Amino acid sequence: MEKLLIKGGVPLKGTVTISGSKNASLPAIAAAILAGGKSVLRGVPALRDVLTMGTLLEQMGARFSLEDSLAEIDTAGLKNPVAPYELVKTMRASVLVLGPLAARYGRAKVSLPGGCAIGARPINFHLMGLEKMGAKIELEGGYVIAKARRLKGASLYFDLPTVTGTENLMMAAALAKGVTILENAAREPEIVDLAETLQAMGAKIEGAGGSLIEIEGVDELKPYSHQAVPDRIEAATFAVAAAITGGDILIKNARPEHLDAVSIKLRETGAEVKKTPAGLRVKGDGRPRSVNITTMPYPGFPTDVQAQFMALMCMADGNSMINETVFENRFMHVPELKRMGADIEFQGGVATVKGVPALKGAQVMATDLRASASLVLAALAAEGESVVHRIYHLDRGYEQMEKKLVALGAQAERIK
Ligand code: EPU
Repeated sequence: MEKLLIKGGVPLKGTVTISGSKNASLPAIAAAILAGGKSVLRGVPALRDVLTMGTLLEQMGARFSLEDSLAEIDTAGLKNPVAPYELVKTMRASVLVLGPLAARYGRAKVSLPGGCAIGARPINFHLMGLEKMGAKIELEGGYVIAKARRLKGASLYFDLPTVTGTENLMMAAALAKGVTILENAAREPEIVDLAETLQAMGAKIEGAGGSLIEIEGVDELKPYSHQAVPDRIEAATFAVAAAITGGDILIKNARPEHLDAVSIKLRETGAEVKKTPAGLRVKGDGRPRSVNITTMPYPGFPTDVQAQFMALMCMADGNSMINETVFENRFMHVPELKRMGADIEFQGGVATVKGVPALKGAQVMATDLRASASLVLAALAAEGESVVHRIYHLDRGYEQMEKKLVALGAQAERIK
């Protein structure tokens, strides 16, 4: 298994270019199922999760290629609407094929994703929505089987604003008969990006980005050509990298308007965060001040940046409270950060981080994608050498992370 060897203590300086968003590319690739023919998605990061989504479509009979950030998804030959356990277990976002398959083929068999390192993560809202749209849902042998002649529009309310749930039902509704209303919908930029993809296919969607989305179903959709939005979580991770190493990074291709919560909190720590025409420029300024964060659905502070921000707070001057409200178990990085000398107490979804003057290099183990980013950031700031094990988690969501870090001056090396 590959690991990352990092010699900490180098302030990162220079320019980094952010890749297209993983969490926008995944639903866009699934959306191609809604039309027969070749859709084209630009700005796609070459990541394990993206390739898994491609493989998933391929085993259904579609063709998928990804080269130089350009994905071509040809669904003309798609005839087997099944998402097998072997693929779904490696990537929960596989569930995004459920809505499009049910809408276009009237049947779908998708393995039920299990729990994962960050929480139980049920898909009951996805299933409730499809049922209200007229699908018959059965659970059999660990699979969800959805059947419907043609889905029909419905008024749906989410108890929690679920990102992939909103995406799944938006895609299903695009081909349903009649109007679907999604209330308390997720508002993430990836939802807006998917709405734009669907509009390029001929869908009628209003309100994406707000909590009420209205979709008027159409009889047929056509393949799309679209550019995925830049990855705001990758951008936020490099922003924290600048702050934690006392560096100065120009984050090109970042969309500052998608990073408001993170930028505000970083400024409170003392970092300089400037919107420039070229992107976001972040400059660290000595030891960070302690700041509290509470993760929330967008536009709140993203749960996907909680672990990285915690790494920064480990070295802050003072105590900070980190309250995770989106996923009940997203603190797997805490014991690993402690191995580097962090002082963190954890109780009931809240971590209290008592800042220490310096972290010390150590061997640490990545447990999930964002936890691995947090450990890499801590290692970049720590005194001495660290080894981050199980780096395959990082490869699921960060395109060429260590190459980008090395270009900014980091001493990082991938070893077998
Ligand atoms: N939830 C339910 N029932 C459902 C759906 C969600 O109870 O049917 C709960 C979840 O358990 C969680 C909350 O609702 O407590 C919000 O979860 P959400 O459904 O929004 O998460 P997701 O769609 O599974 C996406 C991202 C995650 C990101 C979350 C939150 C993709 C492919 N994944 O997951 O990204 O953390 O939204 O913003 O878009 C990552 O990239 O590292 C990652 C985990």
